[in-house]
Order: sequence, then structure tokens, then C-alpha cells
Amino acid sequence: MSETKPVIEIRDLHKSYGALEVLKGVDISAPAGHVVSMIGSSGSGKSTLLRCCNLLEDSQQGEVLFEGEPVKWKGQGLDRRPADPRQVTRIRTNLAMVFQQFNLWSHMTILQNVMEAPVTVLGRDRAEVEAKAREYLEKVGIGDKAEAWPAQLSGGQQQRAAIARALCMEPRALLFDEPTSALDPELEQEVVRVIKDLAEEGRTMIIVTHDMRMAHDVADHVVFLHQGLIEEQGPPAELFGNPKSERLRQFLSHSAPQPQPA
Ligand SMILES: Nc1ncnc2c1ncn2[C@@H]1O[C@H](COP(=O)(O)OP(=O)(O)OP(=O)(O)O)[C@@H](O)[C@H]1O
Ligand SMILES: [Mg+2]
Repeated sequence: MSETKPVIEIRDLHKSYGALEVLKGVDISAPAGHVVSMIGSSGSGKSTLLRCCNLLEDSQQGEVLFEGEPVKWKGQGLDRRPADPRQVTRIRTNLAMVFQQFNLWSHMTILQNVMEAPVTVLGRDRAEVEAKAREYLEKVGIGDKAEAWPAQLSGGQQQRAAIARALCMEPRALLFDEPTSALDPELEQEVVRVIKDLAEEGRTMIIVTHDMRMAHDVADHVVFLHQGLIEEQGPPAELFGNPKSERLRQFLSHSAPQPQPA
């Protein structure tokens, strides 16, 4: 495994919205089977960085590599765009994203939500996808909700459906953007449990979260982003147990709950 390329790697990435430089030269790497947690205050660029990973956002400088394969660009600076739409689709379908707000289709049942992209985007066999979809719904603990509508589910159940939908793409990595932030504490724990199970299975994941305990418990590596730069990074026990930079110390002192020391 040590010889395999990181599933996703970002090198010296710069990203601006007009005059606002949001990412100022960021490196991040998610080796196969590893979980990277990304923390940082609001506006530090976490969502932007995650969206740059799967090319939902353009960037102006730096490289994005999927399993060692660099994204091909055309144009420069603010005009830089990916050059090969098929490469973009391949990368994007292999990096499934889970959002804070679930983003389930309200006019489709849970099962249809989970089946939609594998059938329509990947062109997979409907019956096979349905069997897989039911398997993943079981896995996240809502096998009995396959025929329900999203509005009939709790937030925690909807988020678990969104995770099943991501898994049904059979992606190379999962990208989570604040997957538990919209949930009440008890529903949050249902989702944390599922994410922990995925981590234990050896799934490759990047998880942006405000939940320091989850960041600590599931990650192999934690990245602290501050104003568009990585201020500090390391193994969770070190980053949370012995933060070096004053900014990280301050950030952690304002973030509850604190993780238990390892
Ligand atoms: N589409 C956009 N157009 C212009 N500016 C944007 C856009 N999206 C984000 N920004 C700005 O980029 C900066 C980083 O935003 P981003 O959403 O990446 O932060 P974040 O770390 O995810 O914050 P939060 O914890 O609140 O989700 C912010 O200053 C934000 O206002
Ligand atoms: Mg965000």
C-alpha cells in the first residue's frame, strides 16, 4: 500500500474569488485508506479546498492529482479551467461528496436517490445498482427506509441516506463537508458512528468538520487551515494534545467539545 499514489493530492493550490484570495498555496494529500480531518474557523477556506479537490471549483495555480494523474488545465490565472471534461467526470465520480445539507432529491424515494447517479451517470445495470443500494442502506442502518421520501426521515437518517448515496457510486474516496453540523446532538452521533465505521473499513476520506472529537477520533492526519494557509498539521494526538501555534491553541480553546487525550 505504501507504494500506491495518494487518491487525491493538492499541491500549492491558489484560489481566488475575484480579488479575494481564499487559498494561498495549500498542499493536502489523502493516501489510500487514510482519513484526513480538516479543521479551521469559518471562512478559512475549508469548503473551497474540498470543492477544489473534486473540481467543483476552479483554481488559478497549483496542481490537483487523482491517483497520481495530474488534472490537465487550459488557460492561465483566472481563466484557468480543466482541459478535459471526461477527466473531470472521471475524477468527480470517484470522489463522492457528502454535504451539510444532505441535498437529497425531494421528489425521489430514498432508494431512487441512492440509485440515481450510478444508473444515469455511470450507466450501471439498474438491477445490480438496486441490490447495491439496498446493501448500503442496510449498512448505514436505514434499510427499512428504502421506499420512504426524504421528508419522512429525520435529519440523521437523511444524512445516512446521503452517505449511502455516496457509497453507491463506489468512489475511490469520500469528501465530507460538515456532515454533522445541521444535526441535533443525538442525531449527530448516528452519523458519527457511520463515519467511524467507514474509517475502520479503511475508506479514504477527507472530512471537514467542526466536531473536534470526531476529527480526533477518525483521522490519521489533521490539517488546521487558517486564512487560506495550512497553519499546522499532524497526527490527531499531537495536533490536539500539543498544539504548537498560538492560532491553533486559540481555535481549540473556542471549540467544544474537546477530544479526550489519546
Ligand atoms: N462563491 C463564492 N464567491 C465569493 N466568495 C466566496 C465564495 N465561496 C466562498 N467565498 C469566500 O471564500 C472564503 C472561504 O469560504 P469557505 O466557504 O471555503 O470557508 P469555510 O472554511 O468552509 O467556512 P465555514 O466553516 O463557515 O463553512 C470566505 O471568505 C467566503 O466568503
Ligand atoms: Mg464550509
